[in-house]
Amino acid sequence: MIIEPRMRGFICLTSHPKGCEKNVLNQIDYVKSKGAIDGPKKVLVIGASTGFGLASRITSAFGSDAATIGVFFEKAPAEGKTASPGYYNSLAFEAAAGKAGLYAKSINGDAFSNEVKEQTIDLIKADLGQIDLVIYSLASPVRQHPVTGVLHRSVLKPIGDTFTDKTVDFHTGIVSDVTITPCSDEDIANTVEVMGGEDWAMWMDALLNAGVLADGAMTVAYSYIGPKVTEPVYRKGTIGMAKDHLEATAFKITDDLAKIGGKAFVSVNKALVTQASSAIPVIPLYISLLYKIMKAEGTHEGCIEQIQRLFSARLYTNGTIPVDEKGRIRIDDWEMNPEVQKEVAELWKGATTENLTAIGDLAGYKSDFLNLFGFGFDGVDYAAEANEMVEIPGLI
Ligand code: NAI
Ligand code: NA
Repeated sequence: MIIEPRMRGFICLTSHPKGCEKNVLNQIDYVKSKGAIDGPKKVLVIGASTGFGLASRITSAFGSDAATIGVFFEKAPAEGKTASPGYYNSLAFEAAAGKAGLYAKSINGDAFSNEVKEQTIDLIKADLGQIDLVIYSLASPVRQHPVTGVLHRSVLKPIGDTFTDKTVDFHTGIVSDVTITPCSDEDIANTVEVMGGEDWAMWMDALLNAGVLADGAMTVAYSYIGPKVTEPVYRKGTIGMAKDHLEATAFKITDDLAKIGGKAFVSVNKALVTQASSAIPVIPLYISLLYKIMKAEGTHEGCIEQIQRLFSARLYTNGTIPVDEKGRIRIDDWEMNPEVQKEVAELWKGATTENLTAIGDLAGYKSDFLNLFGFGFDGVDYAAEANEMVEIPGLI
């Protein structure tokens, strides 16, 4: 069928298989263009189909010839209905990996469940024996707890005070005030259950106990800090409590991995347009101002540039891994540059519907958003019939 973007709220209901393929191939080309990394050889990526996780899988495979297992939760295609973009991304990734002679298999299911953890361990045992890197890159609004069965929902709310500030509807470009009332204590607990570190620790525990972690294995999860303007809804809000928990969990996991000499890290990444971040109020306005400034100074990066730099300049330099005073890897260094932040703060004050296209990179935001779903790529004929029913061979 002919596939066009169909927007509803913060999501796009359709995705384009050829465009998603193009997105993946562009990322592969980028990683190859940066040269070989003396990196991991057998990698598990949890949340491997989009955003930072997909970039981690691509960097592992095409930067250091790694075998990869990807875990994700994506919608397969149905007659007349496209798959979710992560499904097509993974299909394209596996095809490219296969062509390059690289092992790649994927598991589509709920990573929070015991079943998916068991399936993953069985697959590692059968095919790879042991793995040397685990990337934890889940972003989800819900988690069914594997022990209690409770379905926890995360919320994006301030703690204590009502928050009012600017936001932009990136579809229309309209800048307006958004007011978010403070969360309840339950909201904090639920958000920590979903986006905190418990599931990461459960994964590492299960992998360690199954004997599928190689000596010196490393695991990395992703976090975010960001600017003052987003603090009440992000870092000091419910999601920030979850990120605090995730960051603290890294130390616990490192302790648990002592017997194999393993280590857990959190990497603080840059704000980027992904399905997860588009849904957070205020962030899209911040991102559009940030992009404008970083593109002008030549320091703008997307997920693939971020993760390629994480692997080549932080994780696998053959030296010590540099961390901040809280033990975190910082690859948000260019975003958090005080000069950049000062400029964003100034632009923020004066941002309006009328001037945003000039002072911000709304076009860049929109184009990145469309790209997430495989739309807007050069070299893809969107007027042509596309086969939405393509399937990932051997998907578990
Ligand atoms: P994303 O939405 O692009 O990717 C989420 C991934 O998780 C997908 O592969 C999805 O299939 C998978 N997933 C979700 N629920 C699942 C489940 N129940 N079972 C199995 N897989 C599931 O998100 P993004 O932005 O790449 O986020 C990844 C991590 O990076 C998150 O921890 C996020 O907080 C962090 N981060 C994001 C930033 C941003 O600006 N986007 C900035 C810094 C950190
Ligand atoms: Na991801």
